[in-house]
Amino acid sequence: MAHHQLKHVLSTKQFLNKRLLANLFRTADELARKDKTGRLHKILTGKILASVFYEPSTRTRFSFEAAMLKLGGTVITTESASHFSSVIKGESLPDTIKIISGYVDVIVLRHHEEGSAQIAAEASSVPIINAGDGSGEHPTQALLDLYTLKKELGRTDKLKIALIGDLLYGRTIHSLLNLLMLYKNTKIYLVSPPQLRLPAKYKSQLKQNGIYFEETSDLYKNLDEMDVLYVTRIQKERFGNLRQYEKLKGSYVINKVALKRLKRHAIIMHPLPRVKEVAAEVDDDPRAAYFRQARNGLYIRMALLDLIIKK
Ligand code: CP
Repeated sequence: MAHHQLKHVLSTKQFLNKRLLANLFRTADELARKDKTGRLHKILTGKILASVFYEPSTRTRFSFEAAMLKLGGTVITTESASHFSSVIKGESLPDTIKIISGYVDVIVLRHHEEGSAQIAAEASSVPIINAGDGSGEHPTQALLDLYTLKKELGRTDKLKIALIGDLLYGRTIHSLLNLLMLYKNTKIYLVSPPQLRLPAKYKSQLKQNGIYFEETSDLYKNLDEMDVLYVTRIQKERFGNLRQYEKLKGSYVINKVALKRLKRHAIIMHPLPRVKEVAAEVDDDPRAAYFRQARNGLYIRMALLDLIIKK
């Protein structure tokens, strides 16, 4: 893969380059092919990845760790950093990162505060990969989302995409919007309860980039025109007031009734975990792409490790 000057992965704003994305996706395809045929090269032998997670994770942590191991590297990990590392004794994030970066070749960091990945990058002597910073960004998720769009639909442009659920706190939405703005003929439908609308700064960016968008709280309004439903969980952990969460948690459910309205070649995506916003009865429908999407994460993360770890 052609090497682009990319030290850390903090935001999808670093990926607003169609050539870089095409190279990344090509590498992911190639690694997937080699993995399936048992011909993966151990290109990261001798390298160490530290996964430092202050918040829970299934997909991001396990897929990064599996990606590193498949490429011949090794992994050290703390899955609940706020309880198991010296943070409990009061150690700051910059100090923690400064120390860990002296031991390893790359750090994958998930933290509950927006901006934490940037702070970590300033303290680190090795690449930091942002695996989610509060309600800020989750860039590697958005990269695998775009890769999934390409694989499932054969294109990333001329799409009508409904972003559904918690657009206020959903960091995967924030990262994905940056990438979707690369494709001027995308039409975006922002479907959320009024209390969970997309923050104004993202709407101004959509306007500045000339991207068509509509806001609604009605899931069914344009459902039959959509190419993609990108469904998100209402982010319980971000609510100060849990009564408000209880009121909003069941706002949208994709079920067989919704499926009947959806185009034959549309897809349903979800970064997962889901709670009840996509009913299990949808899972067997060929349009349910969310498990394939999670699997794609393994190959995108392998491609990213290949891109940023110095050999
Ligand atoms: N999509 C995602 O980030 O999942 P995890 O929280 O399980 O990593």
